Amino acid sequence: MKINTLSVFPEIIKNNCKYGVLSKAVGKKLITINNYSFFTEADNNKGIDDEQYGHNPGMVISYEKTFKIFKKIKKNEPKTKFIFLSPKGHIFNNQMAKDLSNEKNITIVSGRYEGFDERILEEFCDFEISIGDYILTGGELATCILIDSISRMIKGVVGKKNSVINDSFMDSTIKGPVYTKPKIFKNKSVPKILLSGNHKNIDNFNRNNSLEYTLNKREDLLENATLAPTERENLRKIKRSKLNNNVFIALVHHPIKNIKNETITTSLTNLDIQDIARSARTYGINKYYITHPILEQRKLAEKVLSFWDNEKKRKNENSKHVAMNNIIIKKSLKEAISNIKKEYKQKPILIGTDANEMKNMVDYSFIKHKIQEEKRPYLIVFGTGWGLSQEIIESCDYILKPVGGYDKYNHLSVRSAVAIILDKLFGCNF
Ligand SMILES: C[S@@+](CC[C@H](N)C(=O)[O-])C[C@H]1O[C@@H](n2cnc3c(N)ncnc32)[C@H](O)[C@@H]1O
Repeated sequence: MKINTLSVFPEIIKNNCKYGVLSKAVGKKLITINNYSFFTEADNNKGIDDEQYGHNPGMVISYEKTFKIFKKIKKNEPKTKFIFLSPKGHIFNNQMAKDLSNEKNITIVSGRYEGFDERILEEFCDFEISIGDYILTGGELATCILIDSISRMIKGVVGKKNSVINDSFMDSTIKGPVYTKPKIFKNKSVPKILLSGNHKNIDNFNRNNSLEYTLNKREDLLENATLAPTERENLRKIKRSKLNNNVFIALVHHPIKNIKNETITTSLTNLDIQDIARSARTYGINKYYITHPILEQRKLAEKVLSFWDNEKKRKNENSKHVAMNNIIIKKSLKEAISNIKKEYKQKPILIGTDANEMKNMVDYSFIKHKIQEEKRPYLIVFGTGWGLSQEIIESCDYILKPVGGYDKYNHLSVRSAVAIILDKLFGCNF
């Protein structure tokens, strides 16, 4: 593979290729590295940058001053693919390294200053790549990272093929722990199974550790990992054992807003009883409180529940009655809060929900993290009608941002909103 680079400081890149596996790969001609310098190639020492249009400060790599350099590289390397390094590009990962290692000829272009005049990208860029969500002063170090990780994927560069195959990220998992001699040092010993010589058991041990490490450190990767059904169930079990089990939801029928922003009481909806109970059970919610100030409506809810209670005798554990058992009917949100407080000796943190944008709303990743960090009770409050009254909104500790699509229309039924919100907070991605 031939890797060309174009940068302001080619020495940084040259030096990086002098060491270890990379220098051997160059020595064995598995890769050829050819470094172009923006300044050596530029016309009459005119430089390569110019002032930025608009009022923002900072110089920009000029289209006019570098155009010929790109043309020259294209002439020298007719089939080359231009990779521009930029914080605005796709985030680089192992799969991209693997894909790029199949190319015969690439040219990695490093920016400096405020980056490239957009017209350079329009004309020459095949891939725009970022190495992460932070800003470097120039692309040379990023070039070194690309050269290193792409080269490792080329056959023969890393001595043992299995070292690469077993690497973290190859199967969207990270590796478990590794050990070396001695067997015991400072009372810390190597897991016995690794000394057993039984390859099958060692492979199982490593696989299970790798999956557990991925779950604990990079759960996001598991979405793309290939998991056997037993592995998936085992990971879910581990995750369940770590989750905060003290999360509650409440469906409020009073005080509620109507379309004119007046305070009203809404009536009970049978579908909300069943469907929300099933969502709550699916996402591991401890109890689902239905609050209604009118006795007749509470009696109606009890009647629905008693029907499901009878079902208990003849249905299996996946049946709806399991979900309906988690419902508690109360007169008001205040009563639901006292009930939780009585049992858990702590007032729950109140999280309000609303379909409208409001000041100081919080995002899902913040609340998701908070709920799992602090194992105290949390109560997520859902409204009916046109939403929770101002008085309830003001009593909440946090208000979640509305869920919805890109359209202005946002009128989800509360049971749909509950399901979506619970999935965002407690959904499993593998
Ligand atoms: C100071 S940066 C320009 C940043 C630009 N002002 C912005 O906010 O997008 C100069 C050059 O460093 C390189 N660079 C900086 N951060 C990078 C990153 N995260 N990934 C890849 N290249 C990066 C790029 O080549 C970029 O053109």
